[in-house]
Amino acid sequence: MITGTGVVKTYKQRGKVLGAREVQALRGVDFAIPKGGAASFIGESGCGKTTLGRIIAGLETYDGGEVAIDGVSMTELKPKQRQPHFRKIQMIHQDPYSALNPTRTIHQTLYAPLSLRAKQTGRPASWIEGRATEVLSLVGLDPATVLSRYPHQLSGGMRQRVVIARALTVDPEMLVADEAVSMIDVSLRLGILALLKDLRERLGVSVLFITHDVATARYIGDDGELYVIYRGQVVERGPVDTIIADPVHPYTQSLLSAIPVLHGLEQPGEHPVMPLESLNESQSDEGCLFARRCPFRAERCTTERPLLRITEAAPQEHACFYPERRSVIARPMEV
Ligand SMILES: Nc1ncnc2c1ncn2[C@@H]1O[C@H](COP(=O)(O)OP(=O)(O)OP(=O)(O)O)[C@@H](O)[C@H]1O
Ligand SMILES: [Mg+2]
Repeated sequence: MITGTGVVKTYKQRGKVLGAREVQALRGVDFAIPKGGAASFIGESGCGKTTLGRIIAGLETYDGGEVAIDGVSMTELKPKQRQPHFRKIQMIHQDPYSALNPTRTIHQTLYAPLSLRAKQTGRPASWIEGRATEVLSLVGLDPATVLSRYPHQLSGGMRQRVVIARALTVDPEMLVADEAVSMIDVSLRLGILALLKDLRERLGVSVLFITHDVATARYIGDDGELYVIYRGQVVERGPVDTIIADPVHPYTQSLLSAIPVLHGLEQPGEHPVMPLESLNESQSDEGCLFARRCPFRAERCTTERPLLRITEAAPQEHACFYPERRSVIARPMEV
């Protein structure tokens, strides 16, 4: 189980034109991902999904709040002490091409982490070969044909399977899949998603899926939780099917209205409810972060920040003062 409370992350960016400025990538995020469970983070580009995923995987620092793994707070530990805890969480990146060393065969790629694991767990060297075969079979690859190959001799889908196999060499309890299918040929995407789902069921690993596509989020964890992130704040959180059936936050509604009805995995939608302008970090941080784009905004929204909570209006947590104002999601807004 990994939990986060009030996680804050600010990046300092240096630009030639604007000079130094601060970007609030995460503004006090709470999360809890149980053992064997599933969660998805969705939100548009730049909202902080990868930053949060990297913090969860121990690859990024944070400036405030608390992260705990199986009840042990990571905040007070030294980096070396954190390592054995974060081993349980492995990240699968978007790009299987750059994730694998092109000069190494798949055998060599798996051998290094497996021999380290053998040492850590006191296993004999003879265990390594068997385990390499095992992890490849787990991800649906034939060890006999794949082990001697180089990454360039495999398809994108096969490479991503190798990346997942490599993550499995350290016996993780959770996989963080950051847009893990977005760079893979459309015809192979469902296979990778099905694999992650299958690993959840067979190995009991939890899966955190980072995506900007709700259909993908639903596929991987229809029993899991959906976190809708907007400009570093979770604006809606709850069971994925509850949110899809009745989204409360106007931002969630706009994301959902962009789902193509039949081919959610293949293309973005054509008619979002609201115009999706590019993020402008210099815009006001006062009040609700979404107010400027919200068709339902009221006076209060521009001065006070709504926090994530449950109200009588809906069973899922939402950060909106006026959840009862929500309307039909498929109606394009007049702009
Ligand atoms: N290493 C970094 N240095 C400075 N700013 C960063 C860094 N990484 C991320 N940011 C900024 O933090 C914000 C959140 O970025 P992040 O990559 O987490 O978003 P994201 O939701 O994963 O976006 P995408 O969907 O495009 O992958 C953005 O404004 C981004 O520019
Ligand atoms: Mg990202």
